[in-house]
Amino acid sequence: MIKKIFSGVQPTGNLHLGNYLGAIKNFVDLNNDSNNECVFCVVDLHAITVKQNPRELKSNIQETVATFIASGIDPKRSIIFNQSGVPAHAEGAWILSCVARTGWLNRMTQFKEKAGKDKEKASVGLYSYPVLMAADILLYDATHVPVGDDQKQHLELSRDIAHKFNTDYGLDFFPLPEPVMNNNTRIMSLRDGNKKMSKSDSSSYSRILMTDSNDDIRTKIKKSKTDSMKMPNDELSLDGRPEISNLLNIFSAVSKESKELVIKKFAGKEISEFKSDLTDILIDLIEPISSEIKKLIDDKGFLNKVLQDGANKAKSISAVTISEIHDLMGLKS
Ligand code: AMP
Ligand code: TRP
Repeated sequence: MIKKIFSGVQPTGNLHLGNYLGAIKNFVDLNNDSNNECVFCVVDLHAITVKQNPRELKSNIQETVATFIASGIDPKRSIIFNQSGVPAHAEGAWILSCVARTGWLNRMTQFKEKAGKDKEKASVGLYSYPVLMAADILLYDATHVPVGDDQKQHLELSRDIAHKFNTDYGLDFFPLPEPVMNNNTRIMSLRDGNKKMSKSDSSSYSRILMTDSNDDIRTKIKKSKTDSMKMPNDELSLDGRPEISNLLNIFSAVSKESKELVIKKFAGKEISEFKSDLTDILIDLIEPISSEIKKLIDDKGFLNKVLQDGANKAKSISAVTISEIHDLMGLKS
């Protein structure tokens, strides 16, 4: 059976190892399976829910597309486009905002985190952000959505919206989208094992970027927070050692070996020895991607063509969904 895949990444710069291991690596695997129809979107309309510098936004859109392609997403196989290039997303979001209930949105933890103490000053867009995400997914009848752990609640909301629409209009119109997650849906900061690795952390040492040089990677792993003990002998002795646990998770994800095996390999060894091996496999992973990103960024003509072709394909799919929604809701004369 054909699976319809949709996912999005915000063009807010600083794409890091967490984005790669938690989401983009899954996109690549899904892209490589010929049973799937994949749509990957650079969600620039989501990015503007907080203030953006227009020049930086433009270059971050290009960098995000370059990272998709450099990581292995093939624009001939998957649709790659940016959200603002397809007006159906904004229209879909409005229509679905009339289906979603404010009580549902009030429970969204990401809004609470991002709005901080002064909720009154947050944009209306930041509040209705998950409705736009639902529109993204539902316009393409997506059945599977690869995301990191932090997007689980938003995806559940998309299912609730799809279900209510189906109930209100008496049809199995929208499929209920399911999350696709691997074991790496929560890569943590290199400075604090209890905090997610994030684009917006004030310390650049907290994250490894997909554009980092080999020296950057070496320094960041060397400086990454650990403790003064030796490497653990088993999973149980990782209790209370979140930073080492995170580095082991990263090692396991990058080497594709189970965490159990990685623990065994380094049991009782010095942390510095483990860090040195971790640095080597990270460089092997990131060096080719980072140099491809740099090459692609210099070929703006190519990147713009990918976005333009993708937007044309996305427009024709989403226009059909919008027209059917109009019909169902009585919006057509
Ligand atoms: P964003 O940068 O917020 O648009 O996120 C893009 C994708 O990366 C989403 O699917 C996130 O869930 C995922 N992601 C972001 N940070 C992490 C992290 N630290 N660990 C794993 N996945 C992440
Ligand atoms: N909200 C997601 C994030 O911050 C990005 C996103 C927007 C998305 N639309 C989507 C993810 C649709 C999956 C499907 O990471």
